[in-house]
This record gives sequence, structure tokens and C-alpha cells, in this order.
Amino acid sequence: MNKLIIHGGKRLKGEVEISGAKNAALPIIAATLLTKGSSVIVKVPNLRDVITMGKLLNHLGAEFYYEDRKAFINTEKVKIFEAPYDLVRTMRASVLVLGPLLAKFGKAKVSLPGGCAIGARPINLHLMGLEKMGAKIELQSGYVVANARRLKGTSIYFDIPTVTGTENLMMAATLAKGTTLLENAAREPEVVDLANALISMGAKIRGAGNSIIEIEGVDGLKPVEYSVIPDRIEAGTFMTFAGVTGGDIFIKGCRPDHLDALIIKLKEAGLIFEQKPEGIKVIGPSRPKATDVKTMPYPGFPTDMQAQFMTLMSIAEGTSVIKETVFENRFMHVAELRRMGADIIVEGSTATVKGISRLRGAPLMATDLRASASLIVAALAAEGETVIHRIYHLERGYERIEEKLLGIGANIKKVKEQ
Ligand code: EPU
Repeated sequence: MNKLIIHGGKRLKGEVEISGAKNAALPIIAATLLTKGSSVIVKVPNLRDVITMGKLLNHLGAEFYYEDRKAFINTEKVKIFEAPYDLVRTMRASVLVLGPLLAKFGKAKVSLPGGCAIGARPINLHLMGLEKMGAKIELQSGYVVANARRLKGTSIYFDIPTVTGTENLMMAATLAKGTTLLENAAREPEVVDLANALISMGAKIRGAGNSIIEIEGVDGLKPVEYSVIPDRIEAGTFMTFAGVTGGDIFIKGCRPDHLDALIIKLKEAGLIFEQKPEGIKVIGPSRPKATDVKTMPYPGFPTDMQAQFMTLMSIAEGTSVIKETVFENRFMHVAELRRMGADIIVEGSTATVKGISRLRGAPLMATDLRASASLIVAALAAEGETVIHRIYHLERGYERIEEKLLGIGANIKKVKEQ
């Protein structure tokens, strides 16, 4: 296992290029199961989760080959319809094969993901939707076993807008008989990107990006070549790196229109943005200003940026209130930040952050993916040395993060744990 050693206090300056979005690439790769033949998905980030999705496709009988940010997938020989526990437990997004397998082959057996570091994360809404489309669903020894002759179009209302739930049902509906309406659907850019990939495969989808998505089922989909959108959370994380170091970073190849809520809040916190055709330049203030945020489904403030934003607030002038409404347990980073001197009190889903002038380096333990990113934000801001242990979470979601940080002047080193 690797650890990161960071000496904080350096002003970051330079250019970084944003990778393709993990959370768009994963469902698009799963969607190729709806086709028969060879697809090429480009701008796929080189990440552990992508490799795990590849292993899962291999397990199902598909060919998956990854090279140079391209995933080559051939689905001609899919003959197994089961996502085993070992793969689902290392990556919850494995559940994204449920909708495609059921729609295309009429059966799927997928291990039920357990809770994880950020919350219970049930998939009841995915299952409710598939049942409404006519699937027979049973739970057997920790697995969801789903069967259907051909799914039928229907109206499905989500009590909570769920990202992978919307994606699973949108994929399932593309091959259903008749029209499906997904109401109170998730509106994240990754849902829209998946819809665009499905449309390129021949699906009939209207309204992705709005809360009502209409899918008219077709008889078959064809393989595609498709390029995924840039990773908005990686871009947002680099914005917070600029914010805590008084830095000047040009974030190349990102889509600022996917980051409206975050950029508005970062401007309130004193960051300056200059939009250019190829990306956005971010200049950090000498000290950020306290700013309140509340996480919400898109287009609200993203829960995947809450930990990084809280770290920025830990050194802000004044007190900020941060409310997490999407996941029930997403404050794992707080205990680590406190070890660096941060003054944060958590009560239920609300954190009150009293800004201090300087964090101090310390040995830290990374818990989940975004919490790990927030510890890098903290380490870059801190005085002295920070060692971040257990960084495999980071490797699931941030491509070459230490190289990118080195390129803009950070003092960072990745070393093997003894
Ligand atoms: N929920 C239910 N029932 C369901 C589905 C969801 O109660 O059937 C609840 C969840 O427990 C949660 C809320 O609904 O409280 C929203 O969860 P959602 O389903 O939208 O999350 P997800 O699809 O499991 C994706 C991303 C997460 C990101 C969330 C929220 C992928 C692969 N994962 O998860 O990304 O935090 O949406 O935007 O797209 C990450 O990249 O670090 C990450 C965790």
C-alpha cells in the first residue's frame, strides 16, 4: 500500500489537465452490455475503479482492454449474468450492470452492496423501478436475483433523486417495450453523458438533465465510439487546492458550466475565476472567507465536494456552517482535520467550522475517496509535514494526482508503506 508525504505551505502555480469523469465512464462502460459487438470509450481515466469495471465485464464474458485512456469492449460473448460479491464489495458502481443485463438478457444476479464509509446506501429505488417494469426480484444469500421476459415501459417516481438508480433504470428502459417516464430523476451531468452515449447507440431518450426523463424502448442498440465528459469533481478539487494555497492554477479541459454551484460558493469565499475557451483560471485569496454550504443533488452543491470545501473553510476568516443532506455519514474527514488543529464541531448532519489561521501537518488516515482528497487540501495548506496513509481510496478516483500536483509546484511524494 502507498502513502503520500506532503510538505505544505507552497503556493501552487501552473496548469493541470482534467481527466475524463470516473462517474460518467463507469455507467457508459456498463451500458455497452446493451449492445452486441465492439465499442470504444475514450477519455476514460486510468483508475482502479475503471479496471474493476473491466474485470467485471471480463467475468461476464465480454472482452475488455484498456490502453491510452481508451476502453475497448467487445460484448459478443457475454454468457454470465452475475456480478459477484468480491467485485461489488470493492466497487459499489458494479451494481450498474443490473439494468443492462436484465434488459438485454432477461436475467441478472448482482451482489447487494453493503453500507460503506459514507452511509447505508441502499439500492431499494433501483429495485422498485425494475419491479415496476415487470421484473421479478428476489433476494438470495445476499444477492439480488432479477428475471424478466421483456421489461415494460411504465412511470417511475424516485422518492430521492438517485444518480446510479436513474442510470440503471434509464439503461433498462432503452430496451423495454413501450415508453418509460423517470420522474424526480437525478440531473447530474454524468446522467446526461450516459444518456448521450445511449442515444449514440440508438436509444430514444428525451429530457436527460431535467427531472423527468422519457425513454421510448427500442428493439436493439448498436456498439459505439464515445468520449466521456471531463471530471467535474477533479476540477473542483483543484479549485480548492488553489483556494488553500493562494495559488494560481489554470484548470484545462474542464466544464465550468458543470460546476456553477461550487464556483459561486468559491467566489463568495474569495477565489477569483477567469474563464477561457480551454478551461478556467483560479486564483486563491490570501485567506479564504467563511462561507456556508448545504449539499444537494445537482444542480445543488455537490456532496462530492463537501469535504474539500470544509477543509478550505477550516482556514477561513470567520465561522461557516456546512450541512450534508445527501449522505448520512460523510464527515469522516473531520476527526483527521481536527488532528491538524482544525476547530470543527459536528452535530448530526451539520458541521460548524471556526476558521483558524494555519493547520499543522500530522500523520493522517484516508477513509473514503473524497475525504482522502480533502486531506490533500489540508496537507497543502498546513505548516510542516503531513503523511497520508491508506491512499488506495484516492487511487480509485483521482488519476495521477501526485504527478499533477508536482507539476504545479507541490512538495508531494508517493512512497510505499513499510
Ligand atoms: N438512495 C436510497 N435508495 C436508493 C438509492 C439511493 O435511499 O435506491 C439514497 C442514498 O443512500 C443517498 C441518496 O439516495 O442518501 C443519493 O444517493 P445516490 O444513489 O444518488 O448515490 P450513488 O448513485 O450511489 C453517485 C456517485 C457518488 C456520489 C453520489 C451523489 C457514482 C458511481 N457514484 O452515487 O460518487 O457521491 O452519486 O452525487 O456515480 C464518489 O465519486 O466519491 C462518489 C461517492
